[in-house]
Amino acid sequence: MGVHTRYTDGLCKRVTVAPETLVRVCAAMGAPIARPGDAAEALRAQHCSADSAFDRFLPEDLRAVSGQYWTPLRVATRAAEWLDDVNVRHVVDIGSGAGKFCVAAALVSRAYFTGLEKRSSLVASARALADLFGVHGRVQFVHGAFGVTPPPVADAYYLYNPFGNYWFDSIRDTEGDAEFGTAPRVREIAFVEQFIRTAPVGTWLLTYNGFGGQMPECCDLIRVDWTLSAALRLWRKQRASEPPDLAHQSRAFRRASRMRKSRRRDVT
Ligand SMILES: C[S@@+](CC[C@H](N)C(=O)[O-])C[C@H]1O[C@@H](n2cnc3c(N)ncnc32)[C@H](O)[C@@H]1O
Repeated sequence: MGVHTRYTDGLCKRVTVAPETLVRVCAAMGAPIARPGDAAEALRAQHCSADSAFDRFLPEDLRAVSGQYWTPLRVATRAAEWLDDVNVRHVVDIGSGAGKFCVAAALVSRAYFTGLEKRSSLVASARALADLFGVHGRVQFVHGAFGVTPPPVADAYYLYNPFGNYWFDSIRDTEGDAEFGTAPRVREIAFVEQFIRTAPVGTWLLTYNGFGGQMPECCDLIRVDWTLSAALRLWRKQRASEPPDLAHQSRAFRRASRMRKSRRRDVT
């Protein structure tokens, strides 16, 4: 039993997935299934990118926006490979929406996932998705707004454009617990940067397309995949963060010394 995942560098890794899970995944993705082995083959061969097949299990209004709002399966699969590679055990998806990232990544990795989402109806829908795919033992969703509700402690945090204004053309748009506009967005981005600065050294960050802000200097970029619809990046907090004013001063100092050097070059 197992699934080979292939990296762009040609290496393969074997991921163990229970047959029942494979049956569910392939059933969900419309793959013909006779035995768990067929299911494994189907998943490995082509169905990782069958977004429309996966999205059939979302409520209609959430399915309609999947291409713009939710992580594509190829991205979730790549993220899952990286997370397993670096032995991440618990990932928090900040702004988990319909739960697609958490559920899809849980299906192809060993990690535990917690989604934090500010819209309660999306939390309910995401829980239903995790049940449907049989991953509720490793995936949970918490209702709360990042910046107000402290995110659970984890060794990795996933961020996919969390702070845009998301509209569903449905009853969800009138949900009382979501705040929109530029001011909350600016505040939330600042919260992320501050959250990373105070996170323990060793914390992993995964960004798909980005979160709207700058990754603090205490983090290094470890991997990037440019082959996806937007860049997927794996970062690691490698050192304690300088207090913001010192960080600002040291950046200014480096800038000034670069300018001095280039002026000296111009003179000689
Ligand atoms: C681009 S979607 C990403 C969904 C999910 N991460 C995925 O990739 O499938 C961003 C989600 O973040 C949620 N969101 C926005 N601001 C938030 C906040 N401050 N706290 C929690 N969730 C938030 C939105 O409601 C939306 O569902």
